[in-house]
Amino acid sequence: MAKSEENSIEEHKEEIERELEFSAGYRWQHWIRAISIVVLIGTGFYIAVPFISPVQTAQPDNFLYALFRSWHIIFGFILTYVIFYKSFMFLYGQKYQMERDAIKDVFNIKIWKKQIGYYLLVSKHPKLSGVYNPIQFMAYAGFYVMMFFLILTGFILYVHVYHDGLGGFLYSPMRYFEVAFGGLAMVREIHHIAMWGVILFIVGHIYMAIYNAVFGKEGAIDAIFSGMKWHKKH
Ligand code: HEM
Repeated sequence: MAKSEENSIEEHKEEIERELEFSAGYRWQHWIRAISIVVLIGTGFYIAVPFISPVQTAQPDNFLYALFRSWHIIFGFILTYVIFYKSFMFLYGQKYQMERDAIKDVFNIKIWKKQIGYYLLVSKHPKLSGVYNPIQFMAYAGFYVMMFFLILTGFILYVHVYHDGLGGFLYSPMRYFEVAFGGLAMVREIHHIAMWGVILFIVGHIYMAIYNAVFGKEGAIDAIFSGMKWHKKH
């Protein structure tokens, strides 16, 4: 490393400090959820429109559709577990107080205005009470609404595919929701539309993560890998 580069790092060390932003549990649930969603979208598109056919054999036992559906359901269960875990931690986790603190700013019109101004590159980033800004918080709240719709409609569909064990146990309560949603075809439609909601969220989420990393200069994307963010020393 060149001497001048070393000096510059030394200089900055006095101005900035590393702080834990995301715990290990938070980062694990984020990436397990991300992988599950990618698998569910891929297999979900196949369930909606089976775009490849199985190899023809003498024995008609190459059940490709069932294979896609079983992977869909396996990852559906993983996603359900992670969403419930994260929701529980948000409500009761000791280390998640900073997330709950973000609710305060949702009711603060000044923070909303400053945040919009920041995204339009006309004002500074507002000082937040928690880890999320109000726009981000509302986007995540919408994401959870879609997730719960996907889980509920997913389980209604599931009880019609597997009738033993959990499928049998959940059959009666899920039938109630099936009727409330207007029948099985409608449930499938809602499940499908909610997927598009999730796809839109992912596009916005990745765009905003890059935006914040570039303009915030605090290592916003690094934080979801290492857990650490850089802050100016107060
Ligand atoms: C990000 C989450 C999810 C996405 C994007 C997704 C996507 C999809 C899509 C697009 C379909 C096809 C619907 C159609 O016919 O148009 C589908 C079907 C299905 N999904 Fe999901 N899904 C998700 C979560 C879940 C969950 C949590 C479960 C619960 C176990 C689940 C269980 C099912 C079942 C059982 C089917 C129907 C299979 C069949 O008709 O044979 N999904 N999903």
